[in-house]
Amino acid sequence: MAKARRQVTEALKNVDILYEIVDARVPESSRNPLLDEIGQGKKRLLVLNKADLADPAATRAFIDYYAAHDLPAVAIDAQHSQGIQQIMSATHRVLAEYIERQKAKGLRNVLLRAMCVGVPNVGKSTILNRLAGRNIAQTGNTPGVTKSQQWIKTSSDINLLDTPGILWPKFDDPAVGTKLALTGGIKDSLFHADDVALFALEKLIARVPQELQHLYRVNATDLTQPLPDLLMTITARLGFKDDYERASWTLINDVRKGKLGRFTWDEVPVDDAAR
Ligand code: G4P
Repeated sequence: MAKARRQVTEALKNVDILYEIVDARVPESSRNPLLDEIGQGKKRLLVLNKADLADPAATRAFIDYYAAHDLPAVAIDAQHSQGIQQIMSATHRVLAEYIERQKAKGLRNVLLRAMCVGVPNVGKSTILNRLAGRNIAQTGNTPGVTKSQQWIKTSSDINLLDTPGILWPKFDDPAVGTKLALTGGIKDSLFHADDVALFALEKLIARVPQELQHLYRVNATDLTQPLPDLLMTITARLGFKDDYERASWTLINDVRKGKLGRFTWDEVPVDDAAR
């Protein structure tokens, strides 16, 4: 952790703006608060990626919330190359003063330097590749920054570090861990699938009862059972006998793929200021 922190801190010294990449389904849970410390004084753009899987109304509410706390944010879907241009234009807005200052010094083509930072699996490499317009990002989930850093040009005046800064997921709160597990933010071997499935089921019953009934061949009465019983009913209806772990993985994977709809699992914070 200490090494990763040092590496990310060092890398950040060389950039004008940091792109903090988060998962739009869990914008708060997929942040590492350490970035506030490491990135202090650095201009920042929060990128809510995987917006294609998140509830659009919640995404808008989060963006408004961050804007109200002086943290510019954009929502994108890097996998389908949606919204990449927004990162470019937001970068110009965030760095407008810097650009003006450089121009006042007589520099005509002001080059802007940026890097992506975030916890594993939020889509950092995908975003880098989209910004670069080609496949450059090395994959890997070891916290820190890979040594062989190079600047890569984008189609605009932004140069990017070719390797993202990787921070570890942070979850003192077990609910945060569960939400990260549900959205693929922590390794599948590190949690019990049934715990995560039960968490998801509880929310899904309230939000999309019809879709649940349809996908898992259960009826409205089944949905009123205690959650573990409902999981066993779903297990049976899926033809998995009593293998509730298998049913749990089916549910988790269906949620991850968006088969039950688009969900945001975090709520917009009510009182505390954006970090
Ligand atoms: P990382 O560098 O932050 O660790 O994340 P990476 O880009 O490797 O992306 C992690 C997974 O998330 C990949 O899926 C990637 O395709 C997917 N992804 C990235 N951006 C988006 C997005 O905006 N929307 C959606 N729906 N998915 C996104 P994977 O399962 O690891 O690989 P694959 O499915 O692409 O084969």
